[in-house]
Amino acid sequence: MIILLGNQKGGAGKSTLCLLLANYLTQRRQRHVIVVDMDYQQSLMSKAEKAKILSGDPPYEVLPASLSQFASIKPVLEKSGDRVVLIDLPGLINDNGLIPVFNSTRLVLSPFSYDAFSVDSTVLFAMVFRKINPKAQLLFIPNRIKNTVKYETRTEVDRVLSKFGHVCPGISDRIDFQRISTVNTPEILYPVVNPILDLIYESYILKYE
Ligand SMILES: Nc1ncnc2c1ncn2[C@@H]1O[C@H](COP(=O)(O)OP(=O)(O)OP(=O)(O)O)[C@@H](O)[C@H]1O
Ligand SMILES: [Mg+2]
Repeated sequence: MIILLGNQKGGAGKSTLCLLLANYLTQRRQRHVIVVDMDYQQSLMSKAEKAKILSGDPPYEVLPASLSQFASIKPVLEKSGDRVVLIDLPGLINDNGLIPVFNSTRLVLSPFSYDAFSVDSTVLFAMVFRKINPKAQLLFIPNRIKNTVKYETRTEVDRVLSKFGHVCPGISDRIDFQRISTVNTPEILYPVVNPILDLIYESYILKYE
């Protein structure tokens, strides 16, 4: 199956969540994973290249692709059998190249944080996505949660986002997130991320496959 990681907001945590999920699926669920890096900065590609030098064979492939190349790789991705294809999208919504990508999926993960810019961008992403693909499940993942977020802000944001999809429990802001590689998620993060990854896997990935 193809899963998209998207949000119009830069720095929302798309690439981080992509890595967390790829590491989780390969290590804890013994699934075959392909990561397609469509981000212009190709941050996952460069992480994968670095990991190759340090640790040898990677546990999953990371392929670079631009939006315009999607049509030519789509048939291969769709024939990926029981592999999980994770597509890390660029942080934009004004490119027609996104239309076939948006239509290729039944599940989209959209990390965001509880600040005004991030929430506006997330709503915009959700509106544009819904126009193009009215059927796929949108799952919003609150990221970089700080203790300072007001309860009323969270409730109000969750209420708005639930018009477009489901809102997951959130991931807190921890410096250790900077140490995730394409080989390994630092163990110290397991208690923070595994309950959310279990939920994404058990209630969404297995359901939409
Ligand atoms: N929960 C978290 N706690 C602390 N830092 C985090 C957390 N999630 C992500 N980060 C950090 O925030 C930065 C941006 O995250 P990331 O690169 O995943 O965002 P992105 O949505 O892929 O951004 P871009 O649009 O630039 O591709 C990274 O330095 C990452 O390590
Ligand atoms: Mg990124």
